[in-house]
Amino acid sequence: MNTLEPIERENIKKTARLLLNSEFAIVLTGAGISTESGIPDFRGESGIWKKYKPKIYGSIQSFLNDPSKFWKMAEEIAPTLFNAEPNPGHYAIADLEKENIIKAVITQNIDELHQKAGTVIVYEVHGNINRFTCMGCRASYTKEQILRKIKKEKSSPGCSFCGAPLKPSVVLFGESLPNFEKYMSIDLAKKADIMLIAGSSLTVAPICDLPLYTLREGGNLIIVNDETTYLDDRAEIVINNKTGVVLPLIVQEVRSIKAKQVSDPT
Ligand code: APR
Repeated sequence: MNTLEPIERENIKKTARLLLNSEFAIVLTGAGISTESGIPDFRGESGIWKKYKPKIYGSIQSFLNDPSKFWKMAEEIAPTLFNAEPNPGHYAIADLEKENIIKAVITQNIDELHQKAGTVIVYEVHGNINRFTCMGCRASYTKEQILRKIKKEKSSPGCSFCGAPLKPSVVLFGESLPNFEKYMSIDLAKKADIMLIAGSSLTVAPICDLPLYTLREGGNLIIVNDETTYLDDRAEIVINNKTGVVLPLIVQEVRSIKAKQVSDPT
């Protein structure tokens, strides 16, 4: 467990106060919030792109040229991804939604851990690993059907109807984001007076530009990330520590302020 510096404890208290006084707080998460569930992120110390070149394993062009490369990477990561459970960071965000402090979560993650932790309003801007589509006839497949196919066919799964390659409903490099989630997240970012950013390197467009909409409309950023980001110097608060440590402490502080307000409403 990472120890917290006094300044970090002070920033956690300040974050709780800002969230309690906010009118429309939202959360933007990245792969960093799921590393404590065992899922590797992309650019952190043991990120996926350190082992697999994104251009070869993560782009739509390379997928269409040779789906087997993507499926080779997927085979290694899938068990961790499919068996992962939410960690305290996910539960803390679900608690903030239950406390009616945050209005929505925009996530770049495809692991569904926010939903598993109980968060209801989640916009998956990079898709979801639990749905698969045929690149030919658009037939859709569940995760279970795909796992059975991979076991049986021992190769990159092809569509049972038209034989075209099957692809998880995740956004690969070179693909556009799902329109509804993209425009909804821009609208939310414009409306937000607080955007809490948790576990993202803020390096992949267009989502890395979302916080700029919040800033442009006079909103504030709070960044919880164990590395620096390009927006640290424009954030109201930056806490460089683990989301699984910091986010539950923010919830704890919110609840203790609320309890004091009830016992001493003056
Ligand atoms: N607590 C806080 N920060 C963490 C933790 C943690 N437990 N674990 C990792 N981090 C930080 C890393 O240091 C890194 O700065 O989270 C950040 C994760 O950044 P990325 O790996 O770049 O993930 P993300 O920002 O979600 O990437 C965006 O890129 O490859 C595409 O589609 C992919 O959605 C992904 C997008």
